Amino acid sequence: MTKIALVIGSLSRQSINRTVAGHIAAQAPAGVEIEEVQISDLPLYTQDLDAENVPPYERVRAQLKAADTVLIVSPEHNRAMPAAVKNIIDIASRPYGQNVWQGKKVAAVTASPGSYGGINSGLQIRQSLQSLGTNVLIAPEVFLSRANAALENGKVADERTAGFLNKFAAAFYAWAAQ
Ligand SMILES: Cc1cc2nc3c(=O)[nH]c(=O)nc-3n(C[C@H](O)[C@H](O)[C@H](O)COP(=O)(O)O)c2cc1C
Repeated sequence: MTKIALVIGSLSRQSINRTVAGHIAAQAPAGVEIEEVQISDLPLYTQDLDAENVPPYERVRAQLKAADTVLIVSPEHNRAMPAAVKNIIDIASRPYGQNVWQGKKVAAVTASPGSYGGINSGLQIRQSLQSLGTNVLIAPEVFLSRANAALENGKVADERTAGFLNKFAAAFYAWAAQ
């Protein structure tokens, strides 16, 4: 059994990234278990809380620790990764010496209605995780541009986009299983 933790970087109820994540999750082969890591209730991280028991911090640290691989599907906010994504990266990197990201396999996908597909966010997520000793999936890359045009009723309706995501999904699940 391959355990995958899914982090959706958008807190929006109508998130296009949630739809893209749902499509990728639906391609999972037998033997893969996917569990979403909720990030919307996480207080902003400060090291002052390292000595305290913060239940939502403990929850996400435990979920990430238990996973073999993490998939982050995220928007870009103001040419950067969303604050909520940076927050979970920080939370799981601490307390010092208890970095959950160390050695963890992580893939980052971004989607945007814009022309650049959230590439700055995707590259930032990778850069931050690399500094934490994460085994980041380098290729294939997905920075999905014009994503809203490919979606309909909460599904990936455009065939070309679905095919592109399916190719990514096949490579991702094969890598996760290694
Ligand atoms: C605060 C804010 C900043 C944004 N900045 C960017 C940006 O830098 N690049 C981009 O491609 N889209 C940007 N957008 C548009 C988002 O791509 C769009 O809202 C998209 O729907 C977000 O993904 P989601 O639906 O999964 O939340 C921004 C949106 C918000 C709310």
